[in-house]
Amino acid sequence: MTLLEVRDLYKSFGGNRVMEGVSFSLEEGEVLGIVGPNGSGKTTLMNVISGILREDRGEVLFQGKKVSSLRPSSRARMGMSRTFQITRLFGNLTVLENVLIPLHYGSPLKADRNLAEELIDAVGLSHKTHDMADSLSLAQRKRLELARALALKPKLLLLDEVFAGLNPVSVREIVELLKRLNEERGITLLLVEHVLKALFQLTRRVLVLSEGKLIFDGSPEEMAKDPVVVKAYLGERYGRKGS
Ligand SMILES: Nc1ncnc2c1ncn2[C@@H]1O[C@H](COP(=O)(O)OP(=O)(O)O)[C@@H](O)[C@H]1O
Ligand SMILES: [Mg+2]
Repeated sequence: MTLLEVRDLYKSFGGNRVMEGVSFSLEEGEVLGIVGPNGSGKTTLMNVISGILREDRGEVLFQGKKVSSLRPSSRARMGMSRTFQITRLFGNLTVLENVLIPLHYGSPLKADRNLAEELIDAVGLSHKTHDMADSLSLAQRKRLELARALALKPKLLLLDEVFAGLNPVSVREIVELLKRLNEERGITLLLVEHVLKALFQLTRRVLVLSEGKLIFDGSPEEMAKDPVVVKAYLGERYGRKGS
């Protein structure tokens, strides 16, 4: 079944068009990566899908329903949750409290401390349960964001550069965690990512965005050989030093 469908999305800021005719769909249980140069519109796309921004044209369908007029909170209730490139936590609350908030929100009558603790454990933060979010390292803040997103019991998890700035050990642990979430809980994953090595451990399908347009949809191997992708994206990353 198609879980997410994005149809011909356009978005401009002022006169600056940053998304142009973006269409793709995502099947239930799939893992999809989105890559592209800085400023190519990846975060904007995540914002439009999750409802933080409204598209100028086109539409987003989740489980076959048009969600364009729905707020982020309504989309979250339908099973869409996300993490942010720049983490958005309650710094002066503890790790546990940060996870209890979305839990409480999801099912107002039974804020479930056990489930919160289970999620905190799943992301490897149980030793920090009662620490303030402000005191966490970047890697720990990202883990906490993941636990908060999971508290909403998502069908679709949108991850915006979840590996950025993490050391190799944390990257490996988060890759394993995401694999488990996908394989054991059937959570569909959409990852915007620059850390290609980690991304390719999770998925065989990658989209490339360049200047707001989708220029590629295929496997990592095909992507590496695609001249348009090499020119627009990979050249920037793997081009000869000094040239
Ligand atoms: N809220 C905003 N207002 C104005 N311009 C924005 C806004 N958000 C993003 N942009 C612009 O849109 C373009 C795409 O940004 P973004 O989606 O953040 O790219 P990416 O995540 O791929 O680096 C950039 O040129 C950026 O400056
Ligand atoms: Mg971004």
